[in-house]
Order: sequence, then structure tokens, then C-alpha cells
Amino acid sequence: MRKYHKKNECRICSSQDLKLILDLGKQPLANAFIKKENLQKYENKFPLRLYLCKNCFLLQLLDIVDKEFLFKEYLYLTSASKPILNHFQKYASEIYNEFLKEIKKPFVIEIGSNDGSLLKEFKKLGTDVLGIEPAKNIAKMANDIGIPTKSNFLNQNIIKKNSLEKKASIVVANNVFGHIEDLKEFMKCIKLLLKNKGIFVFEVPYLIDLIQKLEFDTVYHEHLSYFSLRPLMKLMNEFNLEIFDVKKQKVHGGTIRVFVAEKDNFEITKDLKELIKYEEKFGIYKIKTYEKFSDNVKQLRSELQDKLSKFKKEGKIIFGYGAPAKGNVLLNYCKIGTQFLDYILDTTPLKHGLYTPGMHIQVRSDITHQELSSQQIALLLAWNYEEEIIKKENEFMKKGGKFLVPIPIPRLI
Ligand code: TYD
Repeated sequence: MRKYHKKNECRICSSQDLKLILDLGKQPLANAFIKKENLQKYENKFPLRLYLCKNCFLLQLLDIVDKEFLFKEYLYLTSASKPILNHFQKYASEIYNEFLKEIKKPFVIEIGSNDGSLLKEFKKLGTDVLGIEPAKNIAKMANDIGIPTKSNFLNQNIIKKNSLEKKASIVVANNVFGHIEDLKEFMKCIKLLLKNKGIFVFEVPYLIDLIQKLEFDTVYHEHLSYFSLRPLMKLMNEFNLEIFDVKKQKVHGGTIRVFVAEKDNFEITKDLKELIKYEEKFGIYKIKTYEKFSDNVKQLRSELQDKLSKFKKEGKIIFGYGAPAKGNVLLNYCKIGTQFLDYILDTTPLKHGLYTPGMHIQVRSDITHQELSSQQIALLLAWNYEEEIIKKENEFMKKGGKFLVPIPIPRLI
């Protein structure tokens, strides 16, 4: 099976005028946690490099790991992160109240529906639902809790083969759009699945947050595109669609929820007009913004390494808090291994007992607070949940334990 290929043109506008912005080195897949018995085996590593299209300003990866290899068994479980579940509850009720309440038998399709956590919320509101989720192990979990889920990558053949004739009022895709290599085929499918006047709602991490907060560790092989509005608008335009609204969200370090429909069906909102202006002002369409970002990431790496070495010399015990995919990018890029971290705590049962890709640090389940002493420093790899985690771990902090938050500038709290 082929595992990898290199593209040489932009995913949206096909321009070959591409500039290398950040090279994160050769990295293993960020979610490829390893069983103990496989630690000695060969680990696949692929270049991880960010390129900017100088024509349409899509920031993207061009080193593409084939999706069959990347997603065949997946360890990311939406339901493992409570803040995401809260987000989904609110998400479903907002969409329902705004667009579905008046419809007789509303039907929602979710692409990349993971374990069915969001669709479950739509179902509770009385909506018919269907999930499409490529990871077989996870699609099964959704089916087991009563969320009908097809285990496939979305493409036009699959729509035909599964006779997905019932059209949806809403198609949602959460944190999926950035994972799609063939965005044009994807948009053709969305059009096939949507009813007349239907709405495509998707959430993607927002590029301005990535740049501003130096969230370089959210760059990994699964995430092929990093979006601001201009390239998205260009893509939608090709399909006679338009973005009519956008809402900023806190999840995943800063996300935008984007609303798309056939042109002229909905009024363009004030929020959208304002965000377009803000992007220009921020300089997201200027190359020097990206050059500065790249310099800052390099500086962050050396600051973090210096801080960890200093703590180690002082005899502190350091462990990782959370084993997200992004944590692995950070650990691999900054070369933080067992010389610094004794173990990593994570709440995802599927990850327990496994070792992190590349750096081979063991992931463990929650340790009781009694075991945590004042000598300890937790490197907060799941920095996107800083607020929740700090609240949850006040016992640890009361005992003198500290969190080291790695981005945007390593700081102790
Ligand atoms: P997340 O940031 O959702 O994903 P990604 O892998 O895309 O970077 O992952 C958060 C990880 O942190 C997940 O493995 C669950 C874990 N976690 C904890 O261990 N404790 C917590 O309190 C929370 C909120 C998450």
C-alpha cells in the first residue's frame, strides 16, 4: 500500500507559487500511539512542512499521508473530552433553534461523526440523524449507542452505493474540512446530500488563532489545510455556494463555525462582514505575518527546552498532562522525551498503557492527588483545556504542583 505522496500545487486554486513557512521535521503520525511490544519496531515518519499559497493564501501541507493509512484505526474519541461534549450540546441546540425548529421532520447528516457525540444531541432534539465516519472502530461505537453511522470515507460513489437519497436540511462537518485532500470532490458530495435551501455548517480551527497564539503543534499530517475566510470563499464560489455567516468558537484553541448555502438564500451577516475586515487588518494576507510566525515558533522551542532543563537540574519531577495529537507534535519538534517527562496523564481509556509516537513516553490514567507532590511540574500538552484542567486540578496546585503551559510563550502557573 502506498503511504505517502508529495503535492506541488495548491489544494484550492492549483497555483504552484507555494512558499515553505515552517519545517517541523520528519514526524510520526501524531495519533499513532504505540503498544509496548511494538516499541522496537520500525516507526513510519513523514515530513511535516507548512506551505503558503501565495495566490489564494491557503496555508497547507503538501506532504500527504494517504488517508487509508492515516485513519484506518483511530484513537481520537470526542466523548473523552468533556468540554467538547458541552460544546456539542450547545452547538446542536443553537443550530436546531435557528434552522430546524420550524421544519417538520428535520434530518441532519454529519461527516466525520466520530463516536456520534454531536448527533446524539441532535437526536435528543427530535432530529433524524445519520453519521458518516471512516474509522471502523469508532463508527461501531456510534452504532452501538443508536446513532446510525456508515463507516466510509465520503465520496460520490459511496453516496450512490449506500443509496443516500434522503436529503438533509443540515450537513455538519466538525473539525473535518481541514482533513480533506480533495476539497472539490468533498463539496460535490455536500451538494448531493443537501436539500434545496439546505445548509452546510462546518467548524475548523481558525488560522488567526493559530498564528496569534503560536499553536504550531496543531499542525500535523491529518490537518491538511489551515483556513482563513478568503480561500474558503473562493472554494465555495466555485460551487455556486456562499458563506453567509461565521461564528467564532473557543474550542480547539480557537475555531470558526462557518455557514454555507446556495448563493442569495440568506443575508450576509454583520459577523461575517466584520471578520473579513478583521482578517485584512490582522495581516493574514501578508507573507511577512507568516515569516514572523515561523521565527517565533523556533524561539518557543529553545525557550521550552531551556526551561525543562532548568527544572530537571533543580530535581523537579515533570510529567505531561494530556496526550493529544498536538502534544506529540510539540514533543517531537522540541525533542522532549523521557529525559524530561516521566509519563503522561490522559483521560482517554484507549490511550492508557500506550507510548507516544516518536518520543515513546508512557500514557497513564489519572493519578490520585495523593501521589502528586509539590515537586511536580505538569507540562500542559492539552493546553486548549487550560481553564477546565486548572479548575479540576486545584488539589494538585494547592499542594504546590505547577503547570507549565507551552504556548504562546512557555509560562508556569
Ligand atoms: P484534544 O485537544 O481534544 O485533541 P487533539 O488530539 O486533536 O490535539 O485532546 C485532548 C486530550 O487531552 C485527549 O486525549 C483527552 C485529554 N484530556 C485529559 O487527559 N484531561 C482532561 O481534563 C481533558 C479535558 C482532556
